[in-house]
Amino acid sequence: MPYPIHRPRRLRRTEAIRSLVRETHLEAFNFIYPLFLVPGEGRRKEISSMPGNYQLSIDEAIKECEEAKSLGLGGVLLFGIPEHKDEIASGAYDPHGIVQEGVRAIKKAVPDLLVVTDVCNCEYTSHGHCGKIVNGDVDNDTTLEWLADAALTHARAGADIVAPSDMMDGRVGAIRETLDAAGFDHIPIMSYAAKYASGFYGPFREAAESAPQFGDRRSYQMDSANAREAMYEMQLDLEEGADILMVKPALAYLDIIAAARQSFDVPIAAYQVSGEFSMIMAAARNGWIDKDRVMMETLTSIKRAGASIILTYFAKDAARLL
Ligand code: PBG
Repeated sequence: MPYPIHRPRRLRRTEAIRSLVRETHLEAFNFIYPLFLVPGEGRRKEISSMPGNYQLSIDEAIKECEEAKSLGLGGVLLFGIPEHKDEIASGAYDPHGIVQEGVRAIKKAVPDLLVVTDVCNCEYTSHGHCGKIVNGDVDNDTTLEWLADAALTHARAGADIVAPSDMMDGRVGAIRETLDAAGFDHIPIMSYAAKYASGFYGPFREAAESAPQFGDRRSYQMDSANAREAMYEMQLDLEEGADILMVKPALAYLDIIAAARQSFDVPIAAYQVSGEFSMIMAAARNGWIDKDRVMMETLTSIKRAGASIILTYFAKDAARLL
């Protein structure tokens, strides 16, 4: 008969005791901060659905990177919005594309800051899909060539880690092979391994101007009902050479994060995506929730579930609070 001998409230009585027994701790270096690069100079345009996040020209992005460094963040994740989009995503693998130039400039200005690049085509295609369209759908195997070329140009520019987010079959293997053949066998791949077709990406598509012009991404991103399939995807990515496995989104997929942590002995990352951020910001702006509190609660839940790397638009805010 536990009570009255056992009283769990004893360990909750004061902040000192609560700190002593706290199981999960967030650190600034757990966070990776996403940035959206645009061509030009002196550009800093707020993304209306993501307050406090901007489309940034490279010079402005460098200021964010300096701040990220001084806050002790784990790194930044770069997305690019090119001047021109076309059918073949040429901006994605242009050696002088926006992300490639951004990486060069950032690594020069803030050499110690970890720079991760998102490897995908949807920001660069006129139709907004993540690869080459053949007969109305994304053609897997041609898209692999674009992705491998993009990853290689990122590595050549100085990216520390490449992160493919397209969900084509075989992309990790294709990227690994291309990087290795070019002498970049030391560059890790953080794979968006279990990436779900999610309504939570809505605000990102405004930020990256990458909404699909027809159809949706369900023929390549995962069905939100599937957990076993996520383990299969992660297993395949590991076999192809992934170094870090990512689950995306985070909050609606904490079970997947926990299962990944149990099943695989590599670092697990989770992406708290645009819609997760915007939802909290919108409720806070209405006075319905306390932003800082809910921000920390959700970030803690992601780490508690098993992700040691969290990609989040709250990275700077959370680091400041810690
Ligand atoms: C590119 C990509 C997307 C996100 C990250 N990489 C968009 C998508 O798949 O539609 C979403 C990130 C976010 O919502 O914050 N494929």
